Amino acid sequence: MKRKLLGVNIDHVATLRQVRGTSYPDPVFAARLCESSGADSIVAHLREDRRHIQDRDMFAIKKAIGIRFNMEMSIAKDIVEVALRLRPHQATLVPEKRKELTTEGGLDVIGQFRRLKKTVERLKKAGIEVSLFIEPDIAHIKTAEEIGANIIELHTGRYADAHTKREMKSELRRIIKASEYAFNRGLVVNAGHGLHYENVRPIAEIPEINELNIGHSIISYAVLYGLKKAVRDMRRLLAT
Ligand code: PXP
Repeated sequence: MKRKLLGVNIDHVATLRQVRGTSYPDPVFAARLCESSGADSIVAHLREDRRHIQDRDMFAIKKAIGIRFNMEMSIAKDIVEVALRLRPHQATLVPEKRKELTTEGGLDVIGQFRRLKKTVERLKKAGIEVSLFIEPDIAHIKTAEEIGANIIELHTGRYADAHTKREMKSELRRIIKASEYAFNRGLVVNAGHGLHYENVRPIAEIPEINELNIGHSIISYAVLYGLKKAVRDMRRLLAT
């Protein structure tokens, strides 16, 4: 099986910075650390409310890294303008609601068909590859194709949030079926959302999937497993 690519979403490094209005932790530094540790791409979501990643971060990250930069974004006018100036390697279009804690569900590809198609065309014309974040559903995949996307990202949130083993298995089957269908149509199939160290394996074993985009669990893991060194280094400073 082909090696799975890993896209690391660094939004929550910026979340930590924004809650205190400090200059650290720096998402640009984080992006470089991810690159040197084996990430295949960096993902950042420039949200309309700018709650974590800021415009200046996007431009600085693109400059600082040698791997692909995947900008997660809504199709709001000002965000599309930023994307056209930034020209990331890839744009992943996601739905966005102001009050949500994180992206809830895939794009409404049917209801937003015309707006999505227009945005995909504009971005592609600027040389940006475009991915649509959608539910693992055959009708949605067909519509994504009609919209003009060559890449889709299947939303794994329902799989990750499943309450029972049975529900998880049924969601996994939906993702497998959707991946096979999309792959056979010639689409590049990515997946993500809610994946962590305990639930990622079954998704990573789906041969048709090209790249997994993972954020919250990696940053959380880094906080816990980096804590030992953080305390030791502070302890050392206090002793001198
Ligand atoms: N892929 C997409 C399209 C997303 O919107 C997100 C969340 O920003 C992720 C992947 C990463 O999700 P998580 O932070 O739960 O790993």
